[in-house]
Amino acid sequence: MHSTARTILAGFVLVCTQAAVAADQPVEVRDPTYAKVCSYCHDKGIGPAIVGRQLPTVYIENVVRHGFRAMPSFRPTEIDNAALASVARWVSESAAAKK
Ligand code: HEC
Repeated sequence: MHSTARTILAGFVLVCTQAAVAADQPVEVRDPTYAKVCSYCHDKGIGPAIVGRQLPTVYIENVVRHGFRAMPSFRPTEIDNAALASVARWVSESAAAKK
């Protein structure tokens, strides 16, 4: 009886946690650079959606480093190479957000 209650409680906590994660992060766990920098424009309609489009990592890295029309460029002092490689791979492999 006691352990059953504990199992139910654990299940409930798990469901709540997953619901909170799902609402906040539509796409698995977001890359920290994406969450901190890109999301500001790319999840707010300022820039086009870039997740879930299987954009090539090389293309993403080029756009970030050199800018693209209205997209500002970012220097290595702002986003270092490791962070850029990580965010490019995450954006490229991310699934489309379910809205
Ligand atoms: C200040 C706003 C802003 C930020 C921050 C920003 N972007 Fe953008 N981005 C844009 C805009 C606006 C465009 C569309 C450019 C155009 O077409 O004129 C764009 C376009 C792009 C494109 C090309 C999309 C396409 O359809 O081909 C990529 C890739 C991209 N951004 C990646 C990123 C990544 C990765 C980050 C984070 C490191 C980022 N952007 C941060 C505004 C932003």
